[in-house]
Amino acid sequence: MADTERDINRATVVGAGTMGSGIAQVLATAGIEVDLVDVDTSQLLRAQAAIERSLDRLVQKGSLTARARDQSLALIRPKTKIDAAIGHELLIEAVTEDLTAKQAVFAQAAHVLPETALLASNTSSISITALASAVSGPERVLGMHFFNPVPVMKLVEVVRGQLTSEATTQAIVALAQRLGKTPVVVNDYPGFVSNRLLLPMLNEAFFTLMEGVAEKEAIDQVMKLGMNHPMGPLELADFIGLDVCLHILEVLHRDLGDDKYRPCPLLRRMVAAGRLGRKTGVGFYEYGGRRG
Ligand code: 3HC
Repeated sequence: MADTERDINRATVVGAGTMGSGIAQVLATAGIEVDLVDVDTSQLLRAQAAIERSLDRLVQKGSLTARARDQSLALIRPKTKIDAAIGHELLIEAVTEDLTAKQAVFAQAAHVLPETALLASNTSSISITALASAVSGPERVLGMHFFNPVPVMKLVEVVRGQLTSEATTQAIVALAQRLGKTPVVVNDYPGFVSNRLLLPMLNEAFFTLMEGVAEKEAIDQVMKLGMNHPMGPLELADFIGLDVCLHILEVLHRDLGDDKYRPCPLLRRMVAAGRLGRKTGVGFYEYGGRRG
């Protein structure tokens, strides 16, 4: 069998946050057995509840049968460790945006999973080439960048590191298609394509607000009504997380060495104040008790 036709029937997803749980859900809906791994058991419980809510939504609008919902749920096993006994063909990591943490997951996976297992990262900004350097067989490492909310967003940005093989890229392209997504292949440069284009736009919205050009609602309305964006930039930044936005801008600024990526001081101040957006209940907007 050619590598591009490699069957992926069992996968491990590490990190049960919003992205990890969404990724586990779309894999399971495509009939793939998933170990969803997180050291924090309460996070695993929250992930399971979020997956159930999301699948229920899909059943309610008729795009999934109740039977397929139950089958998908049965395919997801919450775990606190990567299981050495299971010969999974793929691991996707969606842990915190920290090179050392991500490299540790890959090093552990390379130790316990088969040598042929593909190792994918859902990183939004960390170099795939640097991540691969922690692993024997860097040709099997690549970026599989999903977008929030994972069950809804069509794109998977497939990021080729310096040493990623063509067979690995094609296997992940085929997998993304099987998940009902549209894969777009890009090369490993800071921010890839998605965040290199998105974050400067969000950053400019932060400067626009800081300089008093307009109120936050007006800035969002201009982009929603004038450019047909589903969310305005400030609303979207709250949705992504202001800490995540700051981290990506810092990577762009440092690794591309250009001041046009300089993070807005207002963004830094909000992150320092712990106003991170929806996940803390307050960012540019207030969300009451809402954290989703
Ligand atoms: N699971 C299943 N279905 C979901 C869902 C979920 N978690 N969230 C939303 N949906 C479905 C709804 O059921 C609804 O379906 P329908 O149109 O068939 O009835 C549809 O999605 C729209 O949802 P809502 O009606 O509740 O709300 P909106 O119309 O306001 O849409 C949104 C919500 C899809 C989030 C939309 O506002 C949007 O597309 N926003 C932009 C999101 C975006 O840009 N994401 C990318 C962020 S960047 C990123 O992730 C990369 C990182 O590296 C920074």
